[in-house]
Amino acid sequence: MKTKKFVCILLACILCLVFALTGCGGNGTNGSDPADNGDIGIGGVGGDEDKKPDGDEDKKPDGDEDKKPSGDETEDKGTYYTVTFDSRGGSAVESQRIREGNPAARPQTPTYDGYYLTGWFKKDDTEWNFDTDRVNENITLYAGWEAEVQLPDSTASLTFVKEGNAYTVTGIGEEAIVVIPAEHEGLPVTKIQGHHGTGAFAQKAFTSVIIPDTITEIGQNTFYGCRQLVTVNIGANSSLTTIGNNAFSACSSLKNITIPQGVRTIGDGAFNNCASLESFSVASGNTAYRAENGHLIERATNTLIRGVANYNVPESVTNIAQGAFRRTSGITELYIPKTVTVIGNSFIQDSTITKINYAGTEAEWNAIEKSSSMWNYGNRDVQLVYAVAPITPSQPVNLCEVYMTFGNETVAAQLYDNATSRDLVSRLPLTLSFSDYNSVEKIAYMPSGSSALNTSDAPDTYTPVAGDLAVYIPWGNISIFYNAFRASAGLAPFGKIASDGIAKLSQISNNTQITITSEKPVKPEQPTNEPKVLVAYFSATNTTEGVAETIHSQVANSYLYEIIPQEQYTSADLNYNTDCRANREQNDPTARPKISGSVENIEQYDVIFIGYPIWWGQAPKIIYTFFESYNYDFDGVTIIPFCTSGSSGIGSSATSLHSLAPKANWKSGARISSGGSVSSLIAQMN
Ligand SMILES: Cc1cc2nc3c(=O)[nH]c(=O)nc-3n(C[C@H](O)[C@H](O)[C@H](O)COP(=O)(O)O)c2cc1C
Repeated sequence: MKTKKFVCILLACILCLVFALTGCGGNGTNGSDPADNGDIGIGGVGGDEDKKPDGDEDKKPDGDEDKKPSGDETEDKGTYYTVTFDSRGGSAVESQRIREGNPAARPQTPTYDGYYLTGWFKKDDTEWNFDTDRVNENITLYAGWEAEVQLPDSTASLTFVKEGNAYTVTGIGEEAIVVIPAEHEGLPVTKIQGHHGTGAFAQKAFTSVIIPDTITEIGQNTFYGCRQLVTVNIGANSSLTTIGNNAFSACSSLKNITIPQGVRTIGDGAFNNCASLESFSVASGNTAYRAENGHLIERATNTLIRGVANYNVPESVTNIAQGAFRRTSGITELYIPKTVTVIGNSFIQDSTITKINYAGTEAEWNAIEKSSSMWNYGNRDVQLVYAVAPITPSQPVNLCEVYMTFGNETVAAQLYDNATSRDLVSRLPLTLSFSDYNSVEKIAYMPSGSSALNTSDAPDTYTPVAGDLAVYIPWGNISIFYNAFRASAGLAPFGKIASDGIAKLSQISNNTQITITSEKPVKPEQPTNEPKVLVAYFSATNTTEGVAETIHSQVANSYLYEIIPQEQYTSADLNYNTDCRANREQNDPTARPKISGSVENIEQYDVIFIGYPIWWGQAPKIIYTFFESYNYDFDGVTIIPFCTSGSSGIGSSATSLHSLAPKANWKSGARISSGGSVSSLIAQMN
């Protein structure tokens, strides 16, 4: 049933074209990541001279009291340059203002459906090294993208070598989901290790791996650079004892991992540069390691080996290992308790951490064993505060929703319950003129004659992120942050705009009039000749459902319909590693799982979006049932298929459906990743 399809479309060609048009030259897709293997960048920046807490001189984000346009101007703290990130089709990336001679911060990775980022490249196509390259002029960095490989639907193409009475897995072909067998040719499979210590699966594009209980050793570099790897499934009864050096290094999509009970050795850099890690779990009974606040800690030495996106280093930790929080994203502050006596080099380098809250005094901080390389933060202006308590992430209480309308667009915003938002709400509706400030925020002043908003309960400092609404107290203006900025004094945050509004607001031109209302503005009546649209979908685990809802919310005159199986699919039915119901149906050309209910008067629809999860490269058989249930030939109806999947593209799953409605006007459709943009899919309506 499964066909091998290795569809590897290099975006390079497109990028070359773009470069040719822009005169930039080169494709920039082959950059490797020099920092991935645990190398340490050069030290000394962002250190001593930047240790002053923010606030005093940073009265205004970007510090430009005279509102000069941004550029190479000399500010009282030196000359600053702008680093612009051209994501070339990916999601927008905020620009940075960097003091001359300092490195730029590695930005949050943009997204681009169907592609993954290979690095940031200069105009001459050389890759920018965020550890060592310095900013000495205004510069634009270009995203390098490579197409995600559309993986074949075959079972794992693993290679083995026999070692004594067992097998070692040494390599792999191209797979979406890797299932390592417990047994090979009658012998147990006990190790994963490439030849001569190379990573057996290094830099492969699979998304999920299932490791059987027989595996005792995951060798060095095994999963090194598997950037698309999200799920590592290790069983509760695993015999695993050893995880080698750099085994999961640069698995930048990995979010969680469980360390089984028997693991005694975790090699250097095993989880180095795992930027997305949210938590480790360590099986109870493991005598060598434990997890606290999600961080991985070695019991014998109380060393925090690898940190995750959690604000607090636990009080039990005495050592923080070299690079422990390197590239960690998702937190801006880190609390370090007084128990810590050793901090390794580059421990927060290239992370999103910009503030260290230390529990002890300055003298106690100075007594911690650490070298000057510890201050190798990337370019961060890291703020250090003493004698502070652990961080309790504040959960703002919401007051109400308001709406910001400009042109044909309306963006929703949630207001926090504080003095500023209550004052604002009492003045609505309000029309203000917004203009850009320093490529970070859109700002507007209150109407002339009206008083500044009440900011009586503003915090001392605030670190704005994209989407924040705040008042800048010294000037009295309202700011809509569409980019993040460093901790600043004088900001009174009062709400957050909906995430889909950030991009829209970032693009408004200067002096755009935005009306803020507490009631959602009623959109003008849709023209009556609008096509009638059906968004029909089947979703076993709700991924496709999310995409269908997004399409429905963005297509006027559309009706959402869920294809509900008469017999719901249980998780056992979906366990594709077994002879499960889903597999059996996909293998049976005659299978037509029954549907509960039907679309009323299906003939009324001019356009039908049909959505499904990919099951072994094809649409689930219930989609076939759907088309065959109606005594209708869909003549002239525009049908737009869409799917979600682990990684496979829509491929032949769409064309295989054509014979079910041969008179329809079938569009190519698309695979949409969870939360991904549906705009190009909707464009297929035209
Ligand atoms: C039986 C089965 C087979 C699957 N086959 C594939 C496949 O061939 N390629 C792939 O990328 N993902 C495959 N997946 C993953 C699903 O396509 C993916 O998880 C999808 O987003 C689930 O959508 P849903 O949550 O709407 O059901 C398979 C999942 C199941 C249950």
